[in-house]
Amino acid sequence: MRMSLRARLLLWLLVPLVLFVLVTSIASYHSACRIADMTEDAALLASARTIGEVVVWSDSGPTVTILPAALEIFESPHRDRVYYKVVLGRDRLIGGTPRLAMPPGNVSQPVHYDAVIDGAKVRAVAYSRFLYADGKVVPVTVVVAKTRNSRQAIRDQLWLPQLIRECLMLALVAALVPLGLAAELRPLMRLKNDVAGRTPLQIGPMRAEGLPRELRPIVDAIDQCIAQIRLHTQTQRDFVAGAAHQLSTPLTLLDTQIQCACLNCRGESACETALQGARRSMRKMKAMTRQLLMLAQAESAPEPLRKMTDMAEVVESVLEELVVAAQRRDIDLGAECETGAMVAGNPALLCALVSNLVDNAIRYTQPGGRVTVIVRRSREEILLQVIDNGPGLSADARAHVFERFYRASAAAEGTGLGLSIVREIALRHGGTVTLGAGYEPAGLSVSVRLPAWSGGDAR
Ligand SMILES: Nc1ncnc2c1ncn2[C@@H]1O[C@H](COP(=O)(O)OP(=O)(O)O)[C@@H](O)[C@H]1O
Ligand SMILES: [Mg+2]
Repeated sequence: MRMSLRARLLLWLLVPLVLFVLVTSIASYHSACRIADMTEDAALLASARTIGEVVVWSDSGPTVTILPAALEIFESPHRDRVYYKVVLGRDRLIGGTPRLAMPPGNVSQPVHYDAVIDGAKVRAVAYSRFLYADGKVVPVTVVVAKTRNSRQAIRDQLWLPQLIRECLMLALVAALVPLGLAAELRPLMRLKNDVAGRTPLQIGPMRAEGLPRELRPIVDAIDQCIAQIRLHTQTQRDFVAGAAHQLSTPLTLLDTQIQCACLNCRGESACETALQGARRSMRKMKAMTRQLLMLAQAESAPEPLRKMTDMAEVVESVLEELVVAAQRRDIDLGAECETGAMVAGNPALLCALVSNLVDNAIRYTQPGGRVTVIVRRSREEILLQVIDNGPGLSADARAHVFERFYRASAAAEGTGLGLSIVREIALRHGGTVTLGAGYEPAGLSVSVRLPAWSGGDAR
């Protein structure tokens, strides 16, 4: 699995930082060791010189009396042990600890070296001077050694605070960078939501405000893609609208011609039956082209659709048209409309919406049934409801009725496009369509909710 962008950025930042902390820590450890060595070695040598000064030649030979000052230099809170040894010539011990090792080689210059005494590591210095006695020159070597506690303490005091500071910095970076990244990635999430939250109708450009410069090319590319899709969709819709429109004239002509033929072949039953069949197919085709044209018009209606339209008036005009069809099927068609139910929209499309719903209710409700159109208004929305006491729709059919060309029953003629058109028009107006139970025992109610007219720029 690929790592998240956040983890990768964090890694890119933290790995070099950890390396940097490592390298600087090693370097500062070494320089702290050097500084501790230099100061401690200087103190050792000073002490060896002080001891060397007090070696005297008395009657009984060379003697050394160690002054407390010579060893006081080493007093430290670190409980270091101090050893010394004074040797005359090559190996005649005149004072101090005999176990203390001598440095390898000669000691014409002060020599600093490491040794072990009583199992403890010590740092030692050997310093040599000449003693003049009885006309002879005798070399005296003073060795002073000290355990390494204070040396390590100095080193740690120099080195550890820096290490701690750098580790704190690392921890701070590791804690703050994810927060910063989360804040900086928010525009990307906004962009994602903008794309993911779109309906098929929303094919406008993306919202690019507040986006970092680096994301602009992506947004531009998506916008370009959206523009192409929009162009393509528009071309398709124009084609369907054009084709439906072109078909309607020859179909009307054909209808008239079939009617003429019917009149002319009265009495010839075979011919008459064939022509009746042709007329039925013709009616279906006309209905289909009409619905296709309406769907194409609904889809490509210019936005925004903002003419103040009274839904009660729309319902009234539709009922006037369909009242004859209702009477023919003995349907009790009625309306309960509140006044002032204004929406912002396209009156022709809203007529088509109501007409499709009422037409369905009349068509699918059994003769003698009842169909009511209700218009209610609230402050925010207008509710249009078409209720019948027909056969209703099963849950399975409800899931599909808004699909194009889907028909739940063959009880009446139809194209399967009516409810697709209804939903398309409702969506175009910023509304929704829901199905519910109609009158008892099994009827259907279709509810369309549209945003109420909010005043302003009527066109
Ligand atoms: N009021 C209704 N009562 C029962 N069934 C309905 C009603 N309205 C629509 N339907 C069912 O939904 C299907 C889809 O309706 P629609 O899209 O208008 O297509 P059409 O009416 O052309 O068949 C119809 O075939 C019908 O079975
Ligand atoms: Mg229909």
